Amino acid sequence: MIKQKVQEEINSQIQAEFQSAYMYLGFSGWFESQNLPGFAHWMKQQWREEIDHGMKFYNHLIRRDGEIDLQNLDAPSFTIETPQEAFEQALEQERNITKRIHKLYDMAKYEDDYPLESLLLWFIDEQVEEEDQVRQILEDLKRIKNDPSGMLFLDKKLANRNSDASGE
Ligand SMILES: [Fe+2]
Ligand SMILES: [Fe+2]
Repeated sequence: MIKQKVQEEINSQIQAEFQSAYMYLGFSGWFESQNLPGFAHWMKQQWREEIDHGMKFYNHLIRRDGEIDLQNLDAPSFTIETPQEAFEQALEQERNITKRIHKLYDMAKYEDDYPLESLLLWFIDEQVEEEDQVRQILEDLKRIKNDPSGMLFLDKKLANRNSDASGE
């Protein structure tokens, strides 16, 4: 049986992942309004991935006979004026999620919850990848600055992103 404290933290992480998803969907809408469909596509793929992350925790809880306790989501609050700002905020969000995942891992170890520890190893690797991806795009954006042809080139590149979300 899963411990109450662990169950609460997993429910809270489900919320955090869905909250991330909501932010990326908001960014996607903003990029649509800027006529940058490739960026919008990339953000929507990221939205799917975050839903997938939330569902990984959800399914983990279900499989362990835990109780799902879904929490409120806030409207994504962001003020962005440039693509660079969107990726700066995305990086900040990913860093916060990384911190949460590491804290969860500490708790899983402390509570001797081996199944959760195992699940979290995947998330620890995933966060390294996500931060790296966002940082690379941010570096490209810094290099491009306000060059329209550079921006179009990057938009085309991001349009090709396929989701590696598994759905589980
Ligand atoms: Fe995530
Ligand atoms: Fe993420």
